[in-house]
Amino acid sequence: MEINGTSALVTGGASGLGEATARALSAAGAKVTLFDRDGARARATAADIGGATSYVAGDVGDSDAVARAVEMAREAGELRIAVSCAGIGWAQRTIGRNGEAHDFDAFKTVVNVNLIGTFNVMRIAAGAIAATEPRGDGERGVIVNTASVAAFEGQIGQIAYSASKGGVVAMTVPAARDLSPAGIRVNTIAPGLMDTPLLGLLPEENRRALGAGVLFPKRLGIPAEFAQLVVAIVENGYLNGETIRLDGGLRMPPK
Ligand SMILES: NC(=O)c1ccc[n+]([C@@H]2O[C@H](COP(=O)([O-])OP(=O)(O)OC[C@H]3O[C@@H](n4cnc5c(N)ncnc54)[C@H](O)[C@@H]3O)[C@@H](O)[C@H]2O)c1
Repeated sequence: MEINGTSALVTGGASGLGEATARALSAAGAKVTLFDRDGARARATAADIGGATSYVAGDVGDSDAVARAVEMAREAGELRIAVSCAGIGWAQRTIGRNGEAHDFDAFKTVVNVNLIGTFNVMRIAAGAIAATEPRGDGERGVIVNTASVAAFEGQIGQIAYSASKGGVVAMTVPAARDLSPAGIRVNTIAPGLMDTPLLGLLPEENRRALGAGVLFPKRLGIPAEFAQLVVAIVENGYLNGETIRLDGGLRMPPK
């Protein structure tokens, strides 16, 4: 699908992979609406990207806030692209060293944001995309969700995160099937180790060590490489119902 002239919603658009995606879609001619719970950062990012970029502050678990963002994206133009990048991490084992149980609320929070939030955005955005006029092949739009290689090789301490991302991978085929009558494609990207503010908090030495564990090239992924894949998924009309790893061949060890 041609990106130029469309409207696109990007959650988690204030930082990291979402920000890089927003920049790439804007550069390709889309009017981008950022949706992020960090309103100040979303405002600054939208201003920095410029053009027709706007933002809505809110939580992906808040249906009213998501509906507001979808409405704003709809007012900007024909909403045809929705990319979910909002996500959080959590590191804790199922039981700790002394046998203490994993924090139950923390598990629920991670699943709420990463899985349920992604579904919330997908269901509301899909309704708006389905209302647009079909283009060639009857295509109306594209949804891209973000999982992680932790969906496949969750490490020790990644039980909550892996469960949430495994859910995002598992939604891909049924979502593509559900939305096929509307001419909406659904694909998921499962990134490996990407150099975003998340990993930027680690000392340079640790970041280098993480990069050295990648098969090839031996470095962290660049957010622009994630954005490049989003653009490719949107532009390639035959890509549907697929989860694509973007990880330099990395297979995560147990720890
Ligand atoms: N960086 C990596 O190595 C990596 C690897 C695999 C998967 N991912 C996934 O990619 C996505 C983006 O990660 P990133 O590295 O860019 O992180 P990031 O922290 O730089 O960006 C995430 C953004 O999401 C926003 N956000 C978080 N919770 C939200 C909520 N409930 N509602 C709305 N916005 C919310 C944050 O404010 C932030 O701006 C996440 O889903 C993450 O799990 C990242």
